Amino acid sequence: MKASQKILSLVAGMFALGGTALHAEPVHPDEVVYEDWLVTESLSGEPGDAERGYEVYTSRSQGNCIACHSITALLEDVQWHGTVGPSLDGVGARWEEADLRGIVANAKNLYPDTIMPAFYKSSGFIRPGQRFTMQPAEEPLEPILSAQQIEDVVAYLLTLTEYPE
Ligand code: HEC
Repeated sequence: MKASQKILSLVAGMFALGGTALHAEPVHPDEVVYEDWLVTESLSGEPGDAERGYEVYTSRSQGNCIACHSITALLEDVQWHGTVGPSLDGVGARWEEADLRGIVANAKNLYPDTIMPAFYKSSGFIRPGQRFTMQPAEEPLEPILSAQQIEDVVAYLLTLTEYPE
């Protein structure tokens, strides 16, 4: 190997290392940039996966969105749908990705009095009571969903572009 080639491969190696070091870090819940309710930047830095998003949506231990919302296409698979929130049929046609990411992360920016929980928030709660003691829980709290789970459920919502009869 000639000296110039050696230097080239050394430089290439450094870039490869730099690439790993820059590997996407999730945005901390306190550092999410909201423009009104919009969040344009991915929270995890990775694309969302709609199949995993379906799990987040339907699973009681994750988003449990189904407790408050219904989706016609799921009625056959999942028995019980809540009606506290609006139907999410066609939600992927009504809203863009940045809107949905912002609504799921913290719906209170768009609907100040909503009962929909902020799924990506760790501080600024009004006295979240600690179980049994009634002492305020210590902030920061873990957000309900991870950055990637938010991206996944948003990817799933974006597939809901139809308004069934
Ligand atoms: C405790 C009930 C509740 C839960 C749980 C809940 N939501 Fe909501 N959601 C609402 C309500 C109520 C609204 C309507 C806003 C308002 O007026 O309060 C809403 C609005 C929305 C909207 C805007 C709908 C539109 O048509 O404009 C989206 C999108 C949404 N929710 C997604 C979700 C997702 C995804 C989850 C789960 C990660 C979820 N919601 C969990 C109650 C809930």
